[in-house]
Amino acid sequence: MKDDTWPLGLRIRPAAETSSVEVSDTVTGRRFRWSPEALAGLILDDERRAAWTEGLRDPGSGRDELAGGWRHWQERGWFPSDQYYVASRRWVYADSDDPRGEVRTAALQDYLAASGPPPAEVLPDGPVTELDPPARPADRELADLLTSRRTGRRYRDEPVPSEQLSGVLWHGLTGVRERRERISESDPLSYLDSFGSAWDVHVCVYAVDGVEPGAYRYDLLGHRLIATRPGDHRHAMIDVLQGQRSPSTAAWTIGLVADFPRYQWRYRHEHGLRRLYLESGVLGQELAIVAHAYGLSTLITPAQKDRAYLALHGDLPDDRYAPVYTLTMGRSLGTRGHFLADPGEPA
Ligand SMILES: Cc1cc2nc3c(=O)[nH]c(=O)nc-3n(C[C@H](O)[C@H](O)[C@H](O)COP(=O)(O)O)c2cc1C
Repeated sequence: MKDDTWPLGLRIRPAAETSSVEVSDTVTGRRFRWSPEALAGLILDDERRAAWTEGLRDPGSGRDELAGGWRHWQERGWFPSDQYYVASRRWVYADSDDPRGEVRTAALQDYLAASGPPPAEVLPDGPVTELDPPARPADRELADLLTSRRTGRRYRDEPVPSEQLSGVLWHGLTGVRERRERISESDPLSYLDSFGSAWDVHVCVYAVDGVEPGAYRYDLLGHRLIATRPGDHRHAMIDVLQGQRSPSTAAWTIGLVADFPRYQWRYRHEHGLRRLYLESGVLGQELAIVAHAYGLSTLITPAQKDRAYLALHGDLPDDRYAPVYTLTMGRSLGTRGHFLADPGEPA
């Protein structure tokens, strides 16, 4: 007796032409068009149906192993996402079985032969401000910091010690710095440890003891600031932030600026942009948590005017760079800083 059960993953749905129905196989991605009468005839004919389902039952597809995971999605009503979930399970990546990195190394050697190493980070040529040693953050539990952090949109209007700016940049970007230190042409696999590889960090300083106000590029490996446009840019930044007035009392605005070619070299997949946005969220959280440990509060927003931001930070070309997130920080006002002051009220 032949197994004529309907293979897992077959669906019948109306086709755009009303004269036909579509039978799709979510597992293999195959689709068939049938007239409703012909499909009904096939389903009702035991012999023909058994021969047809037998032909669809491809032992190598791993179809049966999908059942448990798929059930998990369906029982929760996650339709139509369950279809994408199943479709994504069938991809076999070239490096799925590559414990010693040989497959990835060969792919990287092809990349290198075709286009050389990833585009290098470009540091501006400007006056350098060495940062003081990072201040020691408050001795608080991470869980306490995570649960007590709140967005602050205005701040105590006083300069912040440079050790705290140094500490936010040092501790908040440790993971990115450590990976970047490991990048080496002699170890091409290091290019693929891509977290953080795309980011340039800029700082617009308004009120920090011992640091002149102005726009700076943060040199991640040298832990120092390189001036790109000196001056008081509070008003310019308020405009960049679409009129949000937080910079008027803040100490600085940090910008996470993506250098697309650096990432595209490593991440040749359509998920690249999504991964970048996710990374910006992770880094934003880390920076904001360190700031919170210094008694600073943060307004995080991606709502900046991109071209105006790039112009303010050294006329960076917008076909290569994009500011993705800005973090405006200042001394916390506690709950009084959650909202901007009403007009007429002191900022
Ligand atoms: C993607 C994103 C964009 C945001 N944009 C703004 C913004 O433009 N202005 C603002 O005041 N807050 C902005 N926020 C901050 C949220 O308003 C804030 O995080 C939210 O009110 C939750 O408050 P909490 O940070 O205190 O938990 C943004 C948050 C996210 C995740």
